[in-house]
Amino acid sequence: MEVIVLPDPGRIGSLAADAITALITRKPDAVLGLATGSSPLAVYDELVSRYEAGQISFRQARGFTLDEYVGLPADHPERYRNVIDTAFAARVDFAPGAVQGPDGLADDIPAACAAYEAAIRDAGGVDLQILGIGTDGHIAFNEPGSSLASRTRIKTLTRQTRVDNARFFGGDLDQVPTHCLTQGLGTIMEARHLILIAMGRSKAEAVHHLVEGAVSAMWPATVLQMHPHVTVLLDDAAAQRLQLVDYYRETYRAKPAWQGI
Ligand code: F6R
Repeated sequence: MEVIVLPDPGRIGSLAADAITALITRKPDAVLGLATGSSPLAVYDELVSRYEAGQISFRQARGFTLDEYVGLPADHPERYRNVIDTAFAARVDFAPGAVQGPDGLADDIPAACAAYEAAIRDAGGVDLQILGIGTDGHIAFNEPGSSLASRTRIKTLTRQTRVDNARFFGGDLDQVPTHCLTQGLGTIMEARHLILIAMGRSKAEAVHHLVEGAVSAMWPATVLQMHPHVTVLLDDAAAQRLQLVDYYRETYRAKPAWQGI
């Protein structure tokens, strides 16, 4: 696990965008794993700028979102399939239908989850997955207690996650759905490169467990310690509880720029 602490969201966004640009240059039909939420916004803004400058194209690429609320109407602005369009997908040149998400309106939820797993598999798996982390240590919506081997399925959101996300629903907790469909931890672990972004003090405890804690379903993101290629991008506030923060800073300072992440 490579841990990189950077002073501002702009630097975090451009480093992650560099990795995506290098991937798309090498493999124009790459499969991207797309997180929603506020953490990846700087990455998406940077990619949109590069697209507008003619430096990158997503014409042949595909994307899979991590999760979806159950029951939000198709045109709801907070439905994650719409959120990813607004934040990123519709601002660049993905082909129609190239970005997919789990179907939170499906009548047969287990079948929809199995179909999503099959779609990811048929696309050849995710080359690069962008991740955020919840204050309770979730990745995607794998809440504490999730099986470390879980696949795409329905989950009940914790009260903490619903409180955290109420800001997207006008601060009204009652408007935040209680359930979601989410890629499982086992699904996410099959992506070839994972870039997790965390910013702000509210993430410091989860980041401490993610990087330096014991692997445990109580802090689901800790499963990433078992993956061979994970990059964790943090601001100073999110890194403030890391015991080895000086070591991570020193390691990154000494890294040759050409190496990338
Ligand atoms: C969203 C997702 C979640 C978020 C996490 C952090 O697709 O998978 O795990 O990444 O809840 O959210 P933000 O970035 O809004 O703090």
